[in-house]
Amino acid sequence: MQMEKLVSLCKRRGFMFQSSEIYGGLNGFWDYGPLGVELKRNIKDAWWRDMCQGHNELVQPEGAPSTYEMVGLDCTIIMHPQVWKCSGHYDLFHDFMVDCKVSKKRYRFDQVRGKWVARGEQKIFVTIMTDAELEHEEVTRRALKFFNLRNKDVAQLTYDESYLTLDKVAASDRPSVLAPDVNELGTLTDPREFNLMFKTYVGALSGEEGAAFLRPETAQGIFVNFKNVVDSTRVRIPFGVAQVGKSFRNEITPRNFTFRSREFEQMEIEFFCNPNESPKWYEYWRNRRMQWYLSLGLDGERLRLREHDQEELSHYSCGTADIEYAFPFLPEGEYGELEGIAHRGDFDLRSHSEGKLDPKKRPLELERTEDGQPRHRGSGKDLSYRDDLTNERFIPHVIEPSAGADRATLAFLCQAYHEDLQPDEDGKMQSRIVMRLHPRIAPIKAAILPLVKKDGMPEIAKEIYTALKQRFNVFYDEKAAVGRRYRRQDEIGTPYCITVDTQTLQDRTVTIRDRDTLKQWRIKIEDCVREIASLVS
Ligand code: GAP
Repeated sequence: MQMEKLVSLCKRRGFMFQSSEIYGGLNGFWDYGPLGVELKRNIKDAWWRDMCQGHNELVQPEGAPSTYEMVGLDCTIIMHPQVWKCSGHYDLFHDFMVDCKVSKKRYRFDQVRGKWVARGEQKIFVTIMTDAELEHEEVTRRALKFFNLRNKDVAQLTYDESYLTLDKVAASDRPSVLAPDVNELGTLTDPREFNLMFKTYVGALSGEEGAAFLRPETAQGIFVNFKNVVDSTRVRIPFGVAQVGKSFRNEITPRNFTFRSREFEQMEIEFFCNPNESPKWYEYWRNRRMQWYLSLGLDGERLRLREHDQEELSHYSCGTADIEYAFPFLPEGEYGELEGIAHRGDFDLRSHSEGKLDPKKRPLELERTEDGQPRHRGSGKDLSYRDDLTNERFIPHVIEPSAGADRATLAFLCQAYHEDLQPDEDGKMQSRIVMRLHPRIAPIKAAILPLVKKDGMPEIAKEIYTALKQRFNVFYDEKAAVGRRYRRQDEIGTPYCITVDTQTLQDRTVTIRDRDTLKQWRIKIEDCVREIASLVS
């Protein structure tokens, strides 16, 4: 599937639009249209239902070390700045970036890809910022332009086999790099650190005293409320706290549609357990989360679970596995992260409890111990846990399945996109685009179509629509030939079409058509709500 086709469908049918499009858009920000908002909401609802609300604490789930409890939270986006100091984001949450001295553009050091191209004695590293399918054409186009050659001279170029990211190019070779948006060599600066948190100022204090940050992850809201949750509910370890909400990261090079955005939504669980049991829970959550994506229709062949190498681990993690998906915009054989499952140990609770913030000091001021190490300034509150049955006191370990709602939405859209040929009413083969979205997440569950706009058919169709509308997002359509109406629904992933036809007038039955198998069967009008309920659950 070509990514451009999906992007164009998303805009044409109202799944996604570029933010502030009439002003030329804002890079890294996306709006969800009338269908997109339903799709993403269904994904978040499915996650909340399956992971949190619908979790049965009385039954031990398959593969789980024991039963456990789940509760939810909804925390603020702006929190006390010290939260980010203790979480490590203030000091460590940065990427390396390079600036182009000519184009004035900024790029993430580890994301600019390219390959070495030689002409005679001269060898240059040609960078590209394009989709996987067009990479070779783009390298060639740029190299020809740089060497002042025509298309027919392409045989003068020789290429290194593999693509590299800029961080893999030796510093001494950087003068030979052709940066993405210019036609001269060596215009990129040396890499520099860039903190990804968006800064803002709270209240009337305009100086650094009022400085605060938009949260770069929802997780910290859960850690700082750990004691509140334990004290206000009857949860006992092991238990999990779930949260869905916006996060913000000032990504240097947002790209690949919504995959890397600057404003996005996360669906995170912080699962608190006894340190002795944490390896088993880590195992459980990796499998459980993988199963969730499969259950909603992602293809197992395009999904994988990848354990991080030691150097890849975040500052807090003592083990992380990513669930990755072979997104179609990535080069063949490459995968993109959908979700990370991290074993965070006791890093966060310990960090938020250690030390005591001096109220006379500015919150983010860096303090050092006598031997020059940064001094932790947590809340000073005891965030340990006492097991009332064993009397054991410990700082719980945390397993964190952290998913992106926008990345999940993008993966489900990529997976769903299909083109096929189907016969129309006259038996002629017609091409159709069909979004094979799982019925549970499809934006519209059923379309109700009177075969013709007369003989009382619209009235009966509206009666069915009204009954279904009370429980499901359904759509009524009486315009154009029925085949055309089916295709319009296939293209947005509506799993079922209910058609009122001549037979309905005699026996009050209607046909239901399945989007994927194209099978049709008849049911009584009175059974429509029950039938759709069982099909989409
Ligand atoms: N609390 C841990 C944490 O935030 P992460 O791997 O940085 O871990 C978790 O992020 C998930 O959030 C990712 O797997 C991805 O799905 C999503 N995510 C992260 N950055 C994103 C971005 N810039 N745009 C869209 N989704 C993003």
